[in-house]
Amino acid sequence: MSTGAVGRAYPRLEGPAKVTGTARYAVEYPVDGVTYGWAVPSAVVRGRITRIDTTEALASPGVLAVVHHGNASRMAPGPQPELRLLQAPTVHYRGQYVAVVVATSLEAAREGARLVRIDYDTSPHSTVLTDDHPGLYKPDQVNPSYPTDTAEGDFDAGYAAAPVRVDVTYRTPAYHNNPMEPHATTAQWHDGQLLVHDSTQGATPVHATLAELFELPPESVRVVAEHVGGGFGSKGYAKASVVLAALAARHVDRPVRLALTRQQLFGPVGYRTPTIQRVRLAADTDGRLTAICHDAVSQTSTIREFAEQTAVYTRSMYAAPHRRTTHRLVRLDVPTPFWMRAPGECPGAYALESAVDELAIAVGIDPVELRIRNDTAVDPDQGRPFTSRNVVACLREGAERFGWAGRDPSPRSRRDGRWLIGTGVAGSSYPARNRPSSATATARPDGSFLVQINATDIGTGARTAIWQVAADALGVPPERVEIRIGDSQLPAAALAGGSMGTASWSWAVIRAAQALREKLRDGGPPTVEVTAEADTTEEVGGQPALPRYAYGAQFVEVRVDADTGEVRLNRMLGVFAAGRVVNPTTARSQLIGGMTMGLSMALHEEGLLDERYGDWVNHDLATYHITGCADVESIEAYWLDERDDELNPAGVKGLGEIGIVGAAAAVANAVHHATGVRIRELPIRLDKLIGVSDLA
Ligand code: MOS
Repeated sequence: MSTGAVGRAYPRLEGPAKVTGTARYAVEYPVDGVTYGWAVPSAVVRGRITRIDTTEALASPGVLAVVHHGNASRMAPGPQPELRLLQAPTVHYRGQYVAVVVATSLEAAREGARLVRIDYDTSPHSTVLTDDHPGLYKPDQVNPSYPTDTAEGDFDAGYAAAPVRVDVTYRTPAYHNNPMEPHATTAQWHDGQLLVHDSTQGATPVHATLAELFELPPESVRVVAEHVGGGFGSKGYAKASVVLAALAARHVDRPVRLALTRQQLFGPVGYRTPTIQRVRLAADTDGRLTAICHDAVSQTSTIREFAEQTAVYTRSMYAAPHRRTTHRLVRLDVPTPFWMRAPGECPGAYALESAVDELAIAVGIDPVELRIRNDTAVDPDQGRPFTSRNVVACLREGAERFGWAGRDPSPRSRRDGRWLIGTGVAGSSYPARNRPSSATATARPDGSFLVQINATDIGTGARTAIWQVAADALGVPPERVEIRIGDSQLPAAALAGGSMGTASWSWAVIRAAQALREKLRDGGPPTVEVTAEADTTEEVGGQPALPRYAYGAQFVEVRVDADTGEVRLNRMLGVFAAGRVVNPTTARSQLIGGMTMGLSMALHEEGLLDERYGDWVNHDLATYHITGCADVESIEAYWLDERDDELNPAGVKGLGEIGIVGAAAAVANAVHHATGVRIRELPIRLDKLIGVSDLA
């Protein structure tokens, strides 16, 4: 019996605690005798520390210790070599943490860090991705475990034979994750037991990593992440802050708080790799795609392979008989790139959805219509039907709501005084994944229920969504349900990433609720507790599951100042098909957030690396620009009422990432429509459009 909680726009459960300041984040817990850590980044790119002089630092008031490779406790090797900090004198990239100063106040730690003298031997370095970089190679697979290259039909022959062709190369720069709350940790050791309050997207993976690195039995580690101020992928696994805090706390035998500064977020915690993407599309004169090729180049570090799945979006989005995708990587002397909202799909869709727009112009067919003509019920990559694919419905509803009909396709056809006006569209898709999770449901004597799961709410409203799902699954009003998340002592669950949190967690919660109701049917003791595990749909009966994706259509209207080249958006409008929506309020904010981040990518964001110093030049929010309210007058997000029973018990596809996919292409396509200028290298800054008034 459902009580109708799912689908209702409940406000966030923790809203009052957040707005009154009582919700505690990782370094806000009161801890007796707490000390403060300040991370010291390397000042060279590649080399070796030859000497660390801590005399002055240790003499500075309040400084308790300088922890470095010469005195830090040893950690076990593991699959994340970038976390084995302070273990060796080797420096692999500029900004690598080479020491931590611990002091009785934050200010004293910071001053101590300034006084640590480090000498290095340096070696030549290479830090900037180029098209023909020596050492380009083919990784064994791309994230998370896709084949590196794919090929069907005969792309070269199909492309050569086609009457309409597009061959274009797009470039995206590095992008830096900037959650409101930086990576931050409070670490405490008590009798060989490690307790951390960490800002993470998943206390379960952080727990596993700490147990492994510090060679502790699982029960000796506890990770608490009750409230987290964003992550966007950069907090998907354990990061430097938690490792340094734990090392430092062990060293001084006191609790340590360590928060990275805003500037320290640029690089060492991950960033979206720059990409170079060549896309070739061929079509018949009726706009039906006959050949598709997407070749992607990106970077990784020298210490860990991170192979972003840039061209994977192209494998399943549009059909054609002849198709090819490739990924190549180069190892640079840079921090390891990592996840950022829709890793792969986001930059990949910018390239493909821009190229589709170029094809629409080449073949003379409306870009909405061209996409509809190339829809497919069967996944071109896997040759099997999608569980549901409503991209055409999104395009149609979006076109209707946006007022697309009657658009004059000619560039520069609309003008309002000094503003050139244009509209653009792009498709969007993101995989609907899930991961194993478990949950415990308890019936209490007073008629209330407790549901526990180590899920993480990184600001998305996940806590509230799980609570709604739990209430319906238990068949009681939500007011009778208490929910506990964000602690590794609760049943292990998937991290908040890959748009798979709600799907995975709700699965486990529904299973636990069902099992509890079974038990309660026969009466029983006053307190009944059951733990249950979700299945996953990675495999069903030994067969890989049917392909499953969320879809969307993004529409944008821009105005471009004909004299200055300044771009403003009159409106952005997205329609999405993402399965069942648990909470319209939090869903809308995820979609609008994704679209906003896509707008930011389109117009502003660009991590600039200076090859001479191997360092990010614009490593703060004064110089690394992000979008603001002045850029856009209206953002609207809608969704279809999509039912897909193949997915999981809650019918959820996830919507943390779909909103960013395609957004930048829609902006770039609209800018082309307004100005006749095709920007193939983001961001679309005014210096690339200045003088556009002279083009006519
Ligand atoms: Mo997100 S990049 O899936 O954490």
